[in-house]
Amino acid sequence: MRVAFIGDIVGRPGRRIIKENLSKLRDEFNIDFVIANGENASHGFGLTIKNCDELLKCGIDCITGGNHTFDKKKDMFLLLETKPVLRPDNYPKGLTGTGVKVFEVKKLDETIEKLAVVNLMGQFSMPTCENPFNWGTEVIKELKEEGVENIFVDFHAEATSEKRTAFMMFKEDISALCGTHTHVGTDDLQIVDGCAYLTDIGLTGCRDNVIGIDKKIPIQKAKTGIGGHFEVPSSCKSILQIMVVDIEEGNAVKSFKIKKLCDKKELSITEAWND
Ligand SMILES: [Fe+2]
Ligand SMILES: [Fe+2]
Repeated sequence: MRVAFIGDIVGRPGRRIIKENLSKLRDEFNIDFVIANGENASHGFGLTIKNCDELLKCGIDCITGGNHTFDKKKDMFLLLETKPVLRPDNYPKGLTGTGVKVFEVKKLDETIEKLAVVNLMGQFSMPTCENPFNWGTEVIKELKEEGVENIFVDFHAEATSEKRTAFMMFKEDISALCGTHTHVGTDDLQIVDGCAYLTDIGLTGCRDNVIGIDKKIPIQKAKTGIGGHFEVPSSCKSILQIMVVDIEEGNAVKSFKIKKLCDKKELSITEAWND
């Protein structure tokens, strides 16, 4: 199956570039299933019911989250119970929702295959959560015992080393691990031991500001030490970034990253190196 993963969608510019391009790209690249991180999709903070519905209609099949998942708490509690929306699984026990879902993916050739999406959160500079490495090990073991081979992990973390550590720990048992949260894409797409890996996919949203947020406040804060309310710019140059992975019997066999800029016709495509 061919799975696509989109990193943190930031505000209206992020939603707009998805609306304008995703269904076309889904067809062009024969994508079977789309996962997207939506923790910043509504005004840069959290996800509302309205924006969630809008994204699902654009061709996203599953929405993952992170440290901003509960910024729009009321809407999110409902979404976690009713929609294909995940929050990091290692949030403290007892919280609404889950970070693990198994989907029956109907492929373009009409056959059906299972795909597990796992959402975990790192610990450096993040809200209180359970150890993601031990937690992830348990979750992946349970999925394998249930016979689920195709496993895609969104590892939401600030530190690149945490994402890399998770990859080294899980790579033999999962199909892909992609990092989210920093909103800055890294240049290390690779396949090792049948697992596709990218430290961070980078944002989908404004590319000419500061991690999708209007640069005025971050610059003011840098100069004076005094911050303010972060806003998503109303107009900007945007980017859509997608990691694509071909999975066969639980193993990644091919991976590439697509970048679409709002003002350029041609796509930029980078192939993974294969170790
Ligand atoms: Fe984010
Ligand atoms: Fe985040």
